[in-house]
Amino acid sequence: MIRKSMLKRSALVLAAGSLTFGALVALDAWAQEAAPAVTPVPTPGPVAVVVQTPAANDPQAQLIKQGEYLARVGDCAACHTAPKGKPFAGGLPIASPIGTIYSTNITPDKDTGIGNYSLEDFDKAVRHGIAKNGSTLYPAMPYTSYAKVHPADVKALYAYFMSGVQPVAQANKATDIPWPMSMRWPLSFWRKMFAPAVAADAASTDNDPISRGRYLVEGLGHCSACHTPRGVALQEKALTDDSTAFLSGGVVDNFLAKNLRGDVTDGLGNWSEGDITAFLKGGRNDHSAAFGGMTDVVQHSAQYMSDDDLTAIAKYLKTLKPVDPNAKALAYDETAAKALRAGSDKSNGALTFIDNCAACHRSTGKGYTQTFPTLALSSTVNSADPTSLIHIVLRGAEMPWTKSAPTHYAMPGFDDRLTDQDVADVLTFVRTSWGNTAPAVTAAQVAKVRKDVGAAPQPAR
Ligand code: HEC
Ligand code: HEC
Ligand code: HEC
Repeated sequence: MIRKSMLKRSALVLAAGSLTFGALVALDAWAQEAAPAVTPVPTPGPVAVVVQTPAANDPQAQLIKQGEYLARVGDCAACHTAPKGKPFAGGLPIASPIGTIYSTNITPDKDTGIGNYSLEDFDKAVRHGIAKNGSTLYPAMPYTSYAKVHPADVKALYAYFMSGVQPVAQANKATDIPWPMSMRWPLSFWRKMFAPAVAADAASTDNDPISRGRYLVEGLGHCSACHTPRGVALQEKALTDDSTAFLSGGVVDNFLAKNLRGDVTDGLGNWSEGDITAFLKGGRNDHSAAFGGMTDVVQHSAQYMSDDDLTAIAKYLKTLKPVDPNAKALAYDETAAKALRAGSDKSNGALTFIDNCAACHRSTGKGYTQTFPTLALSSTVNSADPTSLIHIVLRGAEMPWTKSAPTHYAMPGFDDRLTDQDVADVLTFVRTSWGNTAPAVTAAQVAKVRKDVGAAPQPAR
């Protein structure tokens, strides 16, 4: 099995300082050029929690337990736990276009953590993006999503962080952002422009799965932090499903966090509710397997969600209208498989596929269900933006490890074996065979991703 250090989620972070220095153009370039360079850091290990099974009659213990669950849903550990670090003690480097930001210590330590935070202070940080000292947090902390969390859930999270998490004395690291961009006051303008109003306690959403799903996706799950495209100031183009930009796909850490809307070619139009829950719980289904930032989401967050919550998320995602309602569903086509078997396709793309990919993904392109994902009719393969495909071919990938699917399969990286042209040719072959219809991939696109992900230089030929 191939071990690979997973890329940590990043957070597209606003270069607020730059706004004041007239560099909107540069911001735009960052947004267009996709993800800023991000330091690859290993996935944090499983998080130890000190919550005991609560006695049914102890409301405080129940609240802490609920907070622990919500912290999983919000995946607070993903950013607030450094590789090999203590749970929630912070220190994870998160790259931004203007420098590195470090997540902070959110354990209840009184000196270095949030032990002195009142519920109000905590709420201000989590939902309003304002630190206890009044300065604005970098939107690397997804408070624009967390703004949707109901006050009752914030209270449960607070109870958990104060009483269910072990205090750790570990000082916060200052950002590496140079002055004058390090000044935080411009961030408050960004916050005022882009952060939504915080939610009030609503009537319980529990009995209506679709509103429960919307609540989880828009709020704690912060799915849109990765899956929604960013605008010129790196703000998410939509924070709710009023716009078809919402969850229509964004590039994060050199992976396309793809379209989750109802599109039949590149979205979830052909996925059933059960396909979505299987993917979130086990990291794979008959259509695809999780990789990139989604591996972490499944491994550290989604697999711990209750079946009811996963079903709610799936039902909600299935309500999202396609970006392109006129697209026609793809249909499997035998031509490529027949040509590969007959040896009649002598193109570099076909030959590279036979030599490097067919053993796992097969000449039919259908792979082996739940083991080597299908490339035929895959929404991942048919996404217009090829970033994820180039990335996975260069660096390989490893499925998440989950309770329900403990065997995780991996794909090797081909960076030292295939040239930029080979990768472009094989992916173009994959994107135009078996009924797939996606645009060709160019060697220049491969060269850019090779550089951005720090892959090995192309082999000499
Ligand atoms: C995508 C990464 C990410 C996720 C997920 C995340 N945070 Fe944060 N958080 C950050 C970063 C980065 C900062 C520091 C921002 C700064 O310095 O401006 C931060 C800051 C904070 C602060 C302010 C701490 C202080 O020292 O004032 C609190 C409180 C906090 N986060 C709580 C949470 C909770 C609770 C969750 C889960 C519900 C969570 N965070 C999830 C990245 C994240
Ligand atoms: C840290 C960034 C990140 C976050 C947060 C995130 N995702 Fe993803 N997601 C990705 C990436 C990258 C992919 C593409 C790789 C893959 O298919 O596994 C992806 C893929 C998926 C897929 C597979 C789609 C397909 O057609 O193959 C689903 C379903 C999904 N995400 C659902 C969610 C949901 C629901 C949430 C919120 C609870 C979420 N994601 C949060 C990064 C993220
Ligand atoms: C040793 C078996 C193996 C080989 C060889 C292999 N792959 Fe994979 N491939 C996998 C596995 C396993 C995954 C799932 C990885 C994950 O989800 O983290 C995968 C995932 C993919 C995906 C993403 C599909 C999805 O929906 O998740 C693409 C695209 C892909 N491979 C293309 C290729 C190409 C092109 C080649 C040849 C250059 C290749 N693979 C060679 C095993 C292999």
